[in-house]
Amino acid sequence: MPEVARVPRIVVGVAGGIAAYKTVSLVRELVKSGADVTVVPTESALKFVGRPTWEAVSRNEVSDDLFDDVAAVRHVALGQSADVIVIAPATAHTVASLAAGLAGNLLGTTVLASSAPLVLAPAMHTEMWDHPSVRANIATLLARGATVVGPETGELTGGDVGAGRMSEPHAIAEVVQSVLVPQTLAGKRVVISAGGTREPLDPVRFIGNRSSGEMGVQLARAARARGAEVTLVAANLEVPLPTGVTVIHAPTAVAMRDAMQQVAPTSDVVIMAAAVADWVAAEPSQEKLKKTELGQTFSPVLHRAPDILAELGASKPPGQLLVGFSAETAVESDQRDALAREKLGAKNVDVMCVNQVGDQLGFGDVETIVTMIHHASPQSQSVTGSKHSVAGQILDALLDR
Ligand code: CTP
Repeated sequence: MPEVARVPRIVVGVAGGIAAYKTVSLVRELVKSGADVTVVPTESALKFVGRPTWEAVSRNEVSDDLFDDVAAVRHVALGQSADVIVIAPATAHTVASLAAGLAGNLLGTTVLASSAPLVLAPAMHTEMWDHPSVRANIATLLARGATVVGPETGELTGGDVGAGRMSEPHAIAEVVQSVLVPQTLAGKRVVISAGGTREPLDPVRFIGNRSSGEMGVQLARAARARGAEVTLVAANLEVPLPTGVTVIHAPTAVAMRDAMQQVAPTSDVVIMAAAVADWVAAEPSQEKLKKTELGQTFSPVLHRAPDILAELGASKPPGQLLVGFSAETAVESDQRDALAREKLGAKNVDVMCVNQVGDQLGFGDVETIVTMIHHASPQSQSVTGSKHSVAGQILDALLDR
């Protein structure tokens, strides 16, 4: 695996299939993750999506012609400098060309001139995907170390349903990221809780909080990308689930405690990123509460919810790394850090990640600053960026320790 500290360079090859329109989203996602992306469409790919679109989304010049920019030896330079090449959609024709090592277009020469990992996202009709020649070509490419994502089973062009549909852009992007990131968590079990619990008052109402689950989901993705076996304990997520992880749905504090107690004992790293309710209704009503019956005020009896992190801290097996998250509204960072250090001690946690939250602050897919408070050190450490970037930095910092 290549060790990539600078901006990763990704070549996205696009073959001539209708799924090329979905590759526009893939390119956007890769650019958004901070990569330098160059699109290499085949001539027929440009019949589906034109050059201006590829240039606009990749923010790089696009060429499909072997004879463009000859002075810069473009036909090999792109491949030589790539950290990863992903081909989406990989059509039957392109798969055959790659297996045969053909160099008749810019994509072919780029792949041949590269030692970078190759990721293929095939897309074709089921009959073609099942054809022995396609299977043999895919087997050849797999044997040479290529990674194949999908295809999925679903609706195909013309209304047919079957295997051959290109995987969704985010699933392909995740595989590309995992190829780029060193597999520092290979063989490790990581459990992460995410989202906000909802504690029912009656069948239609609950006490909840504003957590979207973004941070926990990004941590799950980052851990998966580093090779970990990841379990995500999910409470009412408002963001899409990551692929390649085991998901346990746990909508309430009690359900989350049960799930965490089931998986945490055998995990190497346990991260409580969920916003767990501190209070639950003592007796949620089985019927919808009626305001005419309640009168002008309503004071439900609330009991303390289980403190899951504290329970995990009290029964932490030797060698396990336990991480908590502390969302604080205090404006002064020293004050937030002090509150988090108190929680770290009280809950027997190894690392507490602190971030500031407020009315307009901290929720969803936003830029964030997280300070990591370590049990073993008086020094704290801050990481900043999008939640995607911060999640990766947190995991790398945890591993450094
Ligand atoms: N936590 C938990 N169970 C709870 C409440 C919180 O496991 N019932 C965990 C959270 O997942 C987080 C950490 O404890 O990792 C800190 O959560 P936070 O809400 O900041 O702190 P609390 O302990 O709930 O204290 P307070 O709300 O009074 O600040």
